[in-house]
Amino acid sequence: MQLKRAAFGHDFHWGVSTAAYQIEGAHDADGKGSSIWDEFTQKKKKILNGHHGETACDFYYRYPQDIRLMNQLNIPNYRFSIAWSRIFPDGTGTVNQPGVDFYNRLIDECMANKIQPWVTLYHWDLPAALERKGGWTNREIINWFSSYVEYCVKQFGDRVQRWMILNEPIVFTGAGYFLGVHAPGKKGLTNFLSSAHHAALCQAEGGRIVKSLSPESKVGTTFSYSHIEPLREIEKDRAAVKKTDALLNRLFIEPLLGMGYPLKDLKILQGLERFYKDGDTAKLAFDMDFIGLQNYTRELVRHAPFMPFIKAKIIKAGKRNVERTQMDWEVHPPAIYHALMRWSQYKNLKEIIITENGAAFEDRYEEGEVNDQKRMIYIKDHIAQVLLAKQDGAPVNGYFVWTLMDNFEWAEGYYPKFGLVHVNFKTQERIVKASGKWYAAFLEKKALTDIP
Ligand code: NOJ
Repeated sequence: MQLKRAAFGHDFHWGVSTAAYQIEGAHDADGKGSSIWDEFTQKKKKILNGHHGETACDFYYRYPQDIRLMNQLNIPNYRFSIAWSRIFPDGTGTVNQPGVDFYNRLIDECMANKIQPWVTLYHWDLPAALERKGGWTNREIINWFSSYVEYCVKQFGDRVQRWMILNEPIVFTGAGYFLGVHAPGKKGLTNFLSSAHHAALCQAEGGRIVKSLSPESKVGTTFSYSHIEPLREIEKDRAAVKKTDALLNRLFIEPLLGMGYPLKDLKILQGLERFYKDGDTAKLAFDMDFIGLQNYTRELVRHAPFMPFIKAKIIKAGKRNVERTQMDWEVHPPAIYHALMRWSQYKNLKEIIITENGAAFEDRYEEGEVNDQKRMIYIKDHIAQVLLAKQDGAPVNGYFVWTLMDNFEWAEGYYPKFGLVHVNFKTQERIVKASGKWYAAFLEKKALTDIP
């Protein structure tokens, strides 16, 4: 099979994604305030091998070379995030001009290289000063976040045409405020439900602010979505799928689309109503220009009577003897097709952009090369599934690889390698992997022959 860029049409957006904490480093440079990830990574036994993002890919200093590399790789769109605490070291109040200057330079560098900047406003690195006031569990976050969004749009909106409000809210509220495995390391149902409700309000409010200040730009937000199937074809496992789906896939997108929270399918979510204030139902909805879909795998779920609240359990790939990545995620390209077709059933969803898709595999660096066949095939197979979904009517109009270069993968530290570009973390040398070369050739509009 030949996979050609042209088959997707000329206005299809191709790109790569990154996030500030995962690549920038310079954790305390030029007046930046601490974020919850700066602090969480200092705690013992939270991150694999004690890794942290103090230097990461040193992107804060190396962005000119990295943007130039993207240009050489024919990448026309770059999704990155802004570190809130570079702009407002205390989360709110006084602006840190050097932080603003950095993003101005970065955006200018993109433009000079003919790369469109796609900006995520929140990719998990809350200013630590705000966490001390309760972070996402404090309803005040709506005001803090609104001022930050307003400032960014006024500063950068003359050049940024695509905005994303939040990155994967179920992950930062679930892992950060319920399980405690991500920053800020809080646990429990009350923390989860309050932070989830406030995040859902912020995503819609952020959309309203961007659109009112920059009506010409396109605004969206991003969600993780994994196609979920029952482990066994039995009623109990199907019921477990329904609950897991409500929690992982539907909790944030449906209120945004004006459908409310999926309370019927997961009773425990009814606790969200404790945090409701008058008028919230309407405030949760906003008509985004696009929605970012982030997909990596499918999940298989079984009934689990002892699992608190949800009585369901995800059976990881390692237990199922299937092909898997370093994250223990099954390699299953049709999952992205199912995700797109499912979202196509939502009425008010205008445009879907795959804002993340990619795979972590162990890489071998040999004689100056990284021949990462598995990653290359993974990406190619997923792009082929996106095309199928498009041909079947899904309003999908973009695809971004996660990620440009190997970087800090949150609780897993630097162990999982997701990059199209290899990074030597001792020397900061970059080496384009075979997958990166493949993507560059694909984007160059050259005909591609099959991967051997
Ligand atoms: C989700 C997140 O948005 C990103 O930060 C993370 O590195 C990738 N997916 C891979 O887990």
